[in-house]
Amino acid sequence: MSALNVPGIAYGGDYNPEQWPEEVWAEDVRLMREAGVNMVSVGIFSWALLEPSEGVYDFSRMDRILELLHENGIAADLATPTAAPPAWFFRKHPDALPVDKDGRGLSYGSRQTFCPSSPAYREAALRITGELARRYADHPAVVMWHIHNEYGCHNAECYCDESAAAFRRWLRARYVTLDALNDAWGTTFWSQWYYDWDEIIPPRATGAVPNPTHQLDWRRFCSDALLSLYKAERAVLREAAPQIPATTNFMVMYNFDALDYWRWAPELDVVSNDHYLRSTDPESEIDIALSGDLVRSLAGGPWLLMEHSTGAVNWQPVNRAKTAGELRRNALAHVARGADGIAYFQWRAAKAGAEQWHSAMLPHAGTDSQIWRDVVALGADLKALAEVRGSTGTAQTAIVWDWDARWAMEMPSQPSSELRYLELARSWYEPLWREGVAVDFVRPDADLSQYRLVLAPSLYLVDDEGAANLTGFAERGGTLAVGFHSGAVDANCHVRLGGYPGAFREALGVRTDELFPLLPGESHGLSGGGTASLWSERVHLAGAEAVTSYTEGPLTGIPAVTRHTHGTGTTWYLATHPDPTTLAALLDRIRGEAGVEPVRATPEGVEAALRRGPDADYLFLINHGDQSAEVEVRSDATDLLAGKPVEGGTVTVAAGDVVVVREPRG
Ligand code: GAL
Repeated sequence: MSALNVPGIAYGGDYNPEQWPEEVWAEDVRLMREAGVNMVSVGIFSWALLEPSEGVYDFSRMDRILELLHENGIAADLATPTAAPPAWFFRKHPDALPVDKDGRGLSYGSRQTFCPSSPAYREAALRITGELARRYADHPAVVMWHIHNEYGCHNAECYCDESAAAFRRWLRARYVTLDALNDAWGTTFWSQWYYDWDEIIPPRATGAVPNPTHQLDWRRFCSDALLSLYKAERAVLREAAPQIPATTNFMVMYNFDALDYWRWAPELDVVSNDHYLRSTDPESEIDIALSGDLVRSLAGGPWLLMEHSTGAVNWQPVNRAKTAGELRRNALAHVARGADGIAYFQWRAAKAGAEQWHSAMLPHAGTDSQIWRDVVALGADLKALAEVRGSTGTAQTAIVWDWDARWAMEMPSQPSSELRYLELARSWYEPLWREGVAVDFVRPDADLSQYRLVLAPSLYLVDDEGAANLTGFAERGGTLAVGFHSGAVDANCHVRLGGYPGAFREALGVRTDELFPLLPGESHGLSGGGTASLWSERVHLAGAEAVTSYTEGPLTGIPAVTRHTHGTGTTWYLATHPDPTTLAALLDRIRGEAGVEPVRATPEGVEAALRRGPDADYLFLINHGDQSAEVEVRSDATDLLAGKPVEGGTVTVAAGDVVVVREPRG
């Protein structure tokens, strides 16, 4: 984020002035200034207007937009328009249209309807990117390149023949020989042995369950295919304008899992994310915090919220509006988790097109509206938080997060189809969030030296290196807690033999000889109280002690949660899914024994998060409850949003309100 040349916290949204007559633009920039907007993303879907026919360009409108923004002191995050190729492109290159799993070819007429492996698409995308880059490389308004938009949102997988050929090239690079591939995929099973690379196709719809490693490699390939498009565009931009940082907006949110962002993040100069609420989630603030912590971890520091909504979206069955104060709480919650910029989709609510019922900073109703008043007030809040920029997290607890493990566990033909990676991760994250415990997310092979506690709620697949890293962390004195059905398979999705949980068996001091997943709605009592659902295993102690055991069901008397000393550290195995209260109590105990403290003790319903600056800490207190709450802070603290010193070492956070205090260190 330090790369971004915008003062303080960036504030703005997607700006699509091409959808409006030019008379409207003057009002746009006047209102942007009124709201304190200092950066907008432009040109995201403007390919058809920028290149009316192949090789013929019209940048006159974009010239005027950038000029107007610059005159008004508003920076531009200029997009390459490659997420929406024009109709003329597809008429010329129908082969570039994607094909779905069932072999159904898709038509153009929306957006992102291209095959990621299409050479014609790549060529056309790089051509318009080059034109744009050379034209605006030195434009004073342009502070960042916004490459494409939400890679893979609609076309993460294409099953066409071109994709099949690209998949084979990817596999050849990975395995070199067919023997190695056959071995990795276990193709002696069901007569799947390949004698020729050309026999290999994407895991298209087929009669029974496709080979798991085939499916997993396909997901890896699909993520890499889009990453290669991103890198190709970035190379073109760098050549023309090496001084301008590049981003692309990630989608670390509940309904998107197509890209392995650990592989993507190092390729971005600024990591940015889009986050939308699920209307049916009664506590979407937890989702915001989780995704924010994950994005900060991907970025290794501050990041940018590229899109969220001021109110309802238009793409869920019923699109809930935000309640009073929610817009402010949401935006500042992202800042609390490390965002140095807050942006929306979009600036002005559209009157036409598929997103005409999506909220915006400037609603259909105009400025005499609650959303507009909230947007202006938020601009003032963000200005008051300028000094927070660049400050980062302080976590001593890490949650292991891995896309390979997520993809592998959610494939068909598992012991249970009820397991959802994100839900499992969130169920462990949630009690920590309620307690105000700072959390980072890490790859299995990450440097863990800064942490006291590492949690792996769900790590079905883990490679040898990752497993050794995690168990080594405990051996050297850390506390490691592992969730059920972890360590089960290796990087090729092959079962680790000799008993479960394979890779972690020894470090956890347990050995499971058989899995007993529970049916939906089924649960069993636990000694010491509480119940367990979703999963159980016949765990045998091999050094560990039982913390709790089943009091009923086929595994009565068998340990459900265990604790073990491994090296100089402690390991825990949660061989089941305890109910939320029991899980919270367990994690509380694990955390307490590990010596991890919350960032601040707060009354129930008040979220606490801390950002650490060079000489001060910034404590964010967000009251999600309906009661006013008091929180103790340092006696020399300053209330940044109120702009005054805190009196008497205590701040009051009114119901639904947010308070941010600066606490000098030392
Ligand atoms: C995002 C997308 C935006 C807009 C928004 C609506 O996925 O990047 O262009 O469509 O959703 O919520």
